[in-house]
Amino acid sequence: MKITAAITGLGAYVPDYVLTNAELEKMVDTTNEWILSRTGISERRILKGENQGSSVMGIRAVQNLLDKTGTRPEEVELLICATTTPDMLFPATANIISNGVGIANAFSFDMNAACSTFLFALATGAQFIQAGTHKKVIVVGADKMSAIVDYTDRANCILFGDGAAAVLLEPNTEGYGVLDQVLRTDGSGEAYLHQKAGGSRRPPTHETIDHKEHYIYQEGATVFKFAVKSMADVAAQVMERNHLTNDDVAWLVPHQANKRIIDATANRMGVGPEKVMLNITRYGNTTNGTIPLCLADYESQLRRGDNLILAAFGGGFTWGSIYLKWAYDGDKVAAK
Ligand code: UT7
Repeated sequence: MKITAAITGLGAYVPDYVLTNAELEKMVDTTNEWILSRTGISERRILKGENQGSSVMGIRAVQNLLDKTGTRPEEVELLICATTTPDMLFPATANIISNGVGIANAFSFDMNAACSTFLFALATGAQFIQAGTHKKVIVVGADKMSAIVDYTDRANCILFGDGAAAVLLEPNTEGYGVLDQVLRTDGSGEAYLHQKAGGSRRPPTHETIDHKEHYIYQEGATVFKFAVKSMADVAAQVMERNHLTNDDVAWLVPHQANKRIIDATANRMGVGPEKVMLNITRYGNTTNGTIPLCLADYESQLRRGDNLILAAFGGGFTWGSIYLKWAYDGDKVAAK
């Protein structure tokens, strides 16, 4: 009997502080009209306060997941944290999250493939379930993008927000869950989207700080072109090789970097806007929060048997698409 990895629950958390386009208009030379028309973003959430890292949001999201699914922390065997903004270079933010919710019988680690990490981590977590060795795996995407955004750089500060969301993976023998994936990287993309300093190549110095090297560096237009082509290519590939037409697809769940990239991907797949999950308007680009936050936002509309196509693109370059058959009726899960 083939074992697949089904998503059996969702948890989410976004911070309370809302950074609106109107507030950004006062910080940099931009307008609400430009931001909305070029990106589709109206507002984003920001995690405020001293000593507050991505784990703060990851803990709240995983706690929400444990509460909603009635899972005891000691039952969890593996927790993977998808993050590009870890609390520290080490130890892993996954360990801090596990400790924060009382997961003590598991192993945990971080993955970082920029904005595609959640998809890569979902595929990785699914392998442990499919192998038959693990029965409860949590994958949490958590990013405090505000920690690496330069709020004097108008091209980038309008894009990003903070947030976290988590999924529980469990074995399924009825054909639900992760069914296929295409995951890719092209390391030559490094030049166009990266953070220059803070790692082992350029450890922090007064100079790296003065030169603002601890912030996101992005050549937006180049990244945009790659993103449109790559995300649409892999999503179409996953559909074709699983003989899925646009009628068979219930939902496209795209990474939320720019609404124009999302629209282009949906067009290429022939999927109408009513089937596209969107939260970029309210949250901006939360990096590894985008896809699980979408699933959590739309949970009540998800039906057992729905075919979902997840797709992402990020720094690296990294990109990918996952075909997932949804395992439960979302409206039967009490929102907590
Ligand atoms: O999730 C990780 C992957 N990241 C992405 O997928 C992001 C991909 N890139 C994008 O979404 C878009 O490229 C941006 C939203 C970043 C920029 O939009 P764009 O349409 O590509 O604009 P652009 O960079 O080509 O800039 C056009 C103009 C420039 O002015 P000039 O040189 O033509 O006079 C910019 O300086 O828009 C200007 N501009 C702004 N104007 C008002 C850039 N940012 C702003 C701003 N407000 N916030």
